[in-house]
Amino acid sequence: MEVLSVASEAYPLIKTGGLADVVGALPAALAPHGVSMRVLLPGYPKVMAGLADGRQVLWLEDFFGGTARLVAGRANGLDVIAIDAPHLYDRPGNPYVGADGKDWSDNWQRFAALSFTAYELSRGAIEGYKPDILHCHDWQSGLAPAYVAFNAPSRVKTVMTVHNIAFQGVFGWEVFNGLRLDYQAANSGAIEYFGNIGYLKAGLQVADAVTTVSPTYAHEMRTAAYGMGLEGLLQSRADTVTGILNGIDASEWNPGTDTALAQVYNPSNIFERATNKRALEERFGLEQGDGPIFSVVSRLTWQKGLDMLPGEVDSLVAHGGRLIVLGSGDAAIENGLAGAALRHPGKVGVVIGYDEKLSHLIQGGADAILIPSRFEPCGLTQLYGLRYGCIPVVSRVGGLADTVIDANEAAVEAGVATGVVFSPATEEAFGEAIRRTIALYARPKVWHKMQRRGMKSDVSWELSAEKYADLYASLLGHKLDDDS
Ligand code: ADP
Ligand code: GLC
Repeated sequence: MEVLSVASEAYPLIKTGGLADVVGALPAALAPHGVSMRVLLPGYPKVMAGLADGRQVLWLEDFFGGTARLVAGRANGLDVIAIDAPHLYDRPGNPYVGADGKDWSDNWQRFAALSFTAYELSRGAIEGYKPDILHCHDWQSGLAPAYVAFNAPSRVKTVMTVHNIAFQGVFGWEVFNGLRLDYQAANSGAIEYFGNIGYLKAGLQVADAVTTVSPTYAHEMRTAAYGMGLEGLLQSRADTVTGILNGIDASEWNPGTDTALAQVYNPSNIFERATNKRALEERFGLEQGDGPIFSVVSRLTWQKGLDMLPGEVDSLVAHGGRLIVLGSGDAAIENGLAGAALRHPGKVGVVIGYDEKLSHLIQGGADAILIPSRFEPCGLTQLYGLRYGCIPVVSRVGGLADTVIDANEAAVEAGVATGVVFSPATEEAFGEAIRRTIALYARPKVWHKMQRRGMKSDVSWELSAEKYADLYASLLGHKLDDDS
């Protein structure tokens, strides 16, 4: 079965968040299930650099305001088709925003082009290649199912996966004529979204199947509290909506072999983590100490609940904790954390920026990772935390609720706890969770058992890859295995 994964990010070529990790990991996870998956990406500078040995497979003379070519190649085991369209993608920095922090004004066109190309590939634009399924990720590929539904026929089936419903790709009708989308799409109501055109909305409405990245979020996003305006549509399609939990790439994220660590380790010698903790103290300018080091590796945004962190730092430190933060995002949060670091020299260290290697060292050396999200479709850093013995402290939402078992006394007694889970996602409950974590850290036996249990828990792609493979098979009308 041939599946074309259509996305704006794929690790290691281009990454701003978890979407990249998932798109980058799926092909290898699905291969044992008889799924051959290629990835279609915009030809951002980093993508083209990573495909230096690629070969041109199609020349496009008239492509959304310029000329373009499709380049096929392999990068880190990924089989990639990139859209080399310099007028759309050859820009420095972030894939979505310019240096001024504002969305590129032609994003409507840049991502219509991505979706349109997926559709063209589904109709055999490249000789010898015709995918059976388009697997579309987030709003950037949301129009692909609409091209399939309304333009000249393609027999391809479509899956629309929601990684983040907060970003929906909403544009005014004035862009319609530039989309190359059949006018019936406009008349049908399929792309219309509160008076505008909604790319994610279109995909969710017309895709053959809709998924999101955890079972709890699959329920949550159908409610007004989490659906961000799309809940009604998702309710009406409830039969086709499923939640398939993300896994992690266990070869990229393996504390036993990770070259980003000062010291590798495994569940039987977690005390070796101390070397990584010392390395972190040095890197973040912390005084050496016995108390727990809390960490954050995240976009610093409202979604992630990190606006609640600056107000909790004084209490965290007063109770014997220390804090290290790696991330960037909202200026108010960055400033709040910088202020906390000034107030608590030697106890709080903040690195504003993005650093893949440092993110590994943090998971391998910090005692706990804070993830107080207001909503979280899945979340990957708690999974990395589990695998690395870095205890996740999470709010009970979305994929966080599905992957971490709270260390209440019953769970500790039963030997099943893997982290600290709090609810609701308020500053008060968050602060209490931090203090509860400090108290747990003071019980080394309980703490070390939790670490080992987390490290041994199954955060792989195995089960979820099978679910995707079954979903594809059911769309194609293939018989499912008996045990599926
Ligand atoms: P989201 O995709 O919503 O940002 P996830 O938890 O799914 O959240 O994925 C975030 C990914 O980005 C993880 O791989 C995490 O380690 C990584 N990450 C986030 N911020 C940083 C940073 N500042 N430096 C390095 N990696 C980061
Ligand atoms: C999004 C979500 C995150 C999820 C990731 C990968 O960025 O915010 O929860 O883990 O996509 O699916």
